[in-house]
Amino acid sequence: MRPIPEVVFQHFRRPHNKGAMKDPSGTGVVDGRSKDSKLKMHIRLDADQNVDEAKFETKRDRASDAPLSMLTCHIKGKSLPELEAMTVEEFGAVYELFGEQVPMLLLAYEALQATIANVKGLPNPFAFEGGVVCTCVTVREGRLRRVIRERELKNLSEVQHWTRACTGCRSCRPEVERIIREEQQAV
Ligand code: FES
Repeated sequence: MRPIPEVVFQHFRRPHNKGAMKDPSGTGVVDGRSKDSKLKMHIRLDADQNVDEAKFETKRDRASDAPLSMLTCHIKGKSLPELEAMTVEEFGAVYELFGEQVPMLLLAYEALQATIANVKGLPNPFAFEGGVVCTCVTVREGRLRRVIRERELKNLSEVQHWTRACTGCRSCRPEVERIIREEQQAV
């Protein structure tokens, strides 16, 4: 695995844009990477509908500070269509994160998608992902199925890498493997 660029550690040690926002144009919330954890992103748009300010909050997920800090720095000045068109791989490339390093950015990227939906008056696309399959890292069944489909994941180790499901006590392994099999059969 290639080394993580130093800038990522800098964002982890001293996160930018962390805190609440008064009167945001939109706020998005997604599950974090531990039990009862949450990631929250806020953006405020200027008169031209570009991002004037972006902030984030985390609850019980300190590891997500760095990707959220990087993302809130990167999106300033960008328009909503630019943000909607940006893939998680493109976001990673901005900070020289590629390949197997990209999954660490996925939850922050989904927090941005939830925030964009909120700005547009749409429901949070991740609000109805069903029950929690992996309680150690709070991965819901709908998220598992969605990420398996979107990323065309083939096995447990790929699913662990992208979602972190089944990376704790592993008691969820039979359930996660059943879902992988069902998604593969559905293709
Ligand atoms: S319940 Fe999934 S790793 Fe513990």
